[in-house]
Amino acid sequence: MQPPPETTDRTMTDTITWVDGHIELVDQTALPHEEVVLRVTTVSDLVAAIRRLSVRGAPALGVAGAYGVALAVATVPDAELAAAIESIRTARPTAVNLARMTDRVAARLADGFGAVLDEAHTVYREEIAASIAMGTRGADLIDELLGDRDVRAMTICNTGGLAAVRRGTALAVVQTLHERGRLADCLALETRPLLQGARLTAWELGRMGAPHHLVVDSAAPFLLSRGAADIVLAGADRIAANGDTANKVGTFSLALAARHAGVPLVVVAPESTIDHDTLDGAAIPIEDRGAAEVGGFGDSRTAPPDTPAINPAFDVTPAALIHAIVTDQRVIMTSRGETP
Ligand code: MRU
Repeated sequence: MQPPPETTDRTMTDTITWVDGHIELVDQTALPHEEVVLRVTTVSDLVAAIRRLSVRGAPALGVAGAYGVALAVATVPDAELAAAIESIRTARPTAVNLARMTDRVAARLADGFGAVLDEAHTVYREEIAASIAMGTRGADLIDELLGDRDVRAMTICNTGGLAAVRRGTALAVVQTLHERGRLADCLALETRPLLQGARLTAWELGRMGAPHHLVVDSAAPFLLSRGAADIVLAGADRIAANGDTANKVGTFSLALAARHAGVPLVVVAPESTIDHDTLDGAAIPIEDRGAAEVGGFGDSRTAPPDTPAINPAFDVTPAALIHAIVTDQRVIMTSRGETP
């Protein structure tokens, strides 16, 4: 059995930071009931934190990978360094940011610890800048699409500051709309099985003071068909070269429902989530998290013991169902046939 993670009572504004030779991260498994900051001092603790979703969301995983390489250099003997870095880059398979940022920082190994840490800090700063840019660009696109009326958005999973370093991706757009006084409502899908929407997005929207309602995943198509939202905003874990997008399971169903209702679905993700080496959605590796997460929640079981289950953590939305992809640098109009 793993020892309980070390915690600190320092309050944090960023999801993940490097502090005095170790990583600190907001434990997303404890929210919204407890605000716990974990001190991660070893590579195996970092890998465990990634696997149990204490740190999660594609951009945050990228920063975790980046600082993970620095942690590995600082704590692992040279002979074990390559294996330690590989264990970080493969801790979860779908979000390309994790492997990509781990590789990017590992490419500086020959230049020593200082260069590695500098590169990791650059990744961290870039993700913060990207979140701000996505918020602005996404809100501007919504102005173009919907005019100057107040906006009712629908979103899935958690794509806020917790999933990045600050502000986030799709939820950064919601936050920017709210700051501009344009957000009428944000419908947050609870996001089975781990309830990132109910636990994390509702918490973040509450802290923002943004108007919101929590809805069960299965209510979303009906609510869209009744005109309850003007726009659907989703994040991404990996965007293939043709625009097919892997995101939290449920996004594909939401995209089908949005198309049926004539509501545009906009994907919001940093350039670091676009994977030009993966040609289409069929080639994106999808994590299966096992039966236990489906058969109950936390310590309480809902299904009969040993019920077999299939638990893909992500699904793939075909580019044809996506109106546009907003990145920190551009808007890709998939609805006009543009590709990343
Ligand atoms: O399993 P998770 O919680 O890591 O899944 C996260 C998502 O699917 C997010 O929508 C995605 O990473 C974008 S985060 C800004």
